[in-house]
Amino acid sequence: MAPDLDEAAAMEKGAAIANSSFQALSTALQAAMKQGGPVHAVEFCSLNALPLTDSLSMVHSARIRRTSERWRALRDAPDAEEMKVLRDLDSAWNDGKEGGTLKPILKVGSDSVAYYQPIFITTPTCLKCHGKVGDGLDSAAHASIAQLYTWDKATGYSLGDLRGMWSIRWAR
Ligand code: HEC
Repeated sequence: MAPDLDEAAAMEKGAAIANSSFQALSTALQAAMKQGGPVHAVEFCSLNALPLTDSLSMVHSARIRRTSERWRALRDAPDAEEMKVLRDLDSAWNDGKEGGTLKPILKVGSDSVAYYQPIFITTPTCLKCHGKVGDGLDSAAHASIAQLYTWDKATGYSLGDLRGMWSIRWAR
């Protein structure tokens, strides 16, 4: 039997990793948008989002990724456990059970811990690449996304929508 886990500490660790990863991606995205606009930023993300999260995984000794039921990058497609959590989050969100918030979820296994934190469409900037045609979606960025991501499912969102989640796992 693995020893008891301090769940509050594990939640804090997961949140700290998710928040610093969000900061890193968001800073890089904003710089790319400023430098070359949305089309350049799409190319930048397609080349750098994965290496960035992989290098953070090394720093934190945890496997860090983002996933969604409606993924853009095939490599972000959920595994079976992630799919189940995404569906649970989605139905809790649609039922409004948690009064407009969704709490992160911790799953403790015998030799690993998984921390899942919902990701929302928080700013109009997100809509440039994840919004609806004629409502926020940048048409040039959309064209570039269609070229780079053949099976993209990640447009059609509105402000405030649940977009996906951070999925962070580490050995206990
Ligand atoms: C400049 C275009 C652009 C903007 C702006 C943008 N994204 Fe993305 N997003 C992308 C691209 C491209 C990918 C795929 C990255 C990859 O190849 O790993 C992606 C992937 C994601 C993923 C991973 C899951 C998946 O679908 O592959 C999440 C979650 C996400 N974006 C959320 C957001 C949120 C939230 C915002 C606003 C804060 C945002 N994005 C802003 C282009 C953008």
